[in-house]
Amino acid sequence: MKSIGIVGVGKYLPKKVLTNHDLEKLVDTSDEWIVTRTGIRERRIAEKNEATSDMAIKAAEAALKDAKLKAESIDLIIVATISPDMQFPSVATIVQAALKAHKAVAFDISAACAGFVYALIIAQQFIASGKYKNALIIGAEKLSSLVDWTDRSTCVLFGDGAGAAVVAPVKRNGIISTYLGSDGTGGNLLMVPAGGSRLPSSHDTINKKLHFVKMQGNELFKIAVKCMAEAANKALKQAGLGCKEVDCFIPHQANERIILAAAKRLNLDTDKIFMNIDKYGNMSSASTAIALCESVKSKRVKKGDIVVLDVFGAGLVWGACVIKW
Ligand code: UT7
Repeated sequence: MKSIGIVGVGKYLPKKVLTNHDLEKLVDTSDEWIVTRTGIRERRIAEKNEATSDMAIKAAEAALKDAKLKAESIDLIIVATISPDMQFPSVATIVQAALKAHKAVAFDISAACAGFVYALIIAQQFIASGKYKNALIIGAEKLSSLVDWTDRSTCVLFGDGAGAAVVAPVKRNGIISTYLGSDGTGGNLLMVPAGGSRLPSSHDTINKKLHFVKMQGNELFKIAVKCMAEAANKALKQAGLGCKEVDCFIPHQANERIILAAAKRLNLDTDKIFMNIDKYGNMSSASTAIALCESVKSKRVKKGDIVVLDVFGAGLVWGACVIKW
């Protein structure tokens, strides 16, 4: 297989900051509860007229600039999102039009918080097969539009944002190994029940608040720890590497305690973990994309480093990717 790597990264975060103290005024919660149970201190909230694609486009432009590539040379655009602008057309085609990436094939994928790693691995396969050369992958979410702002068990957790990366053949280094897993039997643990073909929008679905995120956090917590540890272990084993050789571990940012528990199972030093959950909360597919961008731009990840992306989300879906940067 030819070497394929990430040649540019970008991010976009809405300006508006919503702190835990702001949330104390909305629901019966406290900064202390949110920080100790999740590690989150604040999150970003998109403007009312700012849709997922608007954020995706800005992150994509930043990634293209970083990769020193013009939009016309992009062959493939994959957007991972669970909060698209609308049912269809896809966010990816909206991004394609805005960027004038005329040559690119564009589509969305739905793999919730694992979406960015799923998109990366899909792009890798297309490039490896020789079908396409340059791919733009984006994790973009406006989760504030799916959150019930009266439900303290979910509204404190999520935020908005977008991250992007350009994936292309590289001469040296690149993706070493990947691992993906799915288990649809746990689909009921995290979902937005209505708005699809099962429960189309109606007065009843609105009255019952079925268009908002419903989550059984406790159950998910345990599965997330197990699956994230397993995914990273399997990808590292496939790469012929151990945790000692990992320079930067970039996990999905759902809960600081999940990340630390998974790292403990992996026997991974905590100083190798990249975390930004305190600033942004859980942005689903955008979390890993933004964390990767920030870890590279802050030089936390340097040339030659071994980087592990490790994700878990609704579906249930999970995965990991080992990259030599
Ligand atoms: O993105 C990928 C998928 N997502 C996840 O993997 C998320 C996994 N789950 C979690 O991160 C955690 O389960 C949560 C952060 C969601 C919840 O933390 P927890 O430690 O599991 O709390 P809990 O749900 O067991 O609730 C403990 C208590 C309850 O009160 P009682 O019944 O013990 O009296 C809740 O009502 O905390 C209460 N509680 C709150 N209190 C203050 C729940 N939410 C809040 C809140 N503020 N925001």
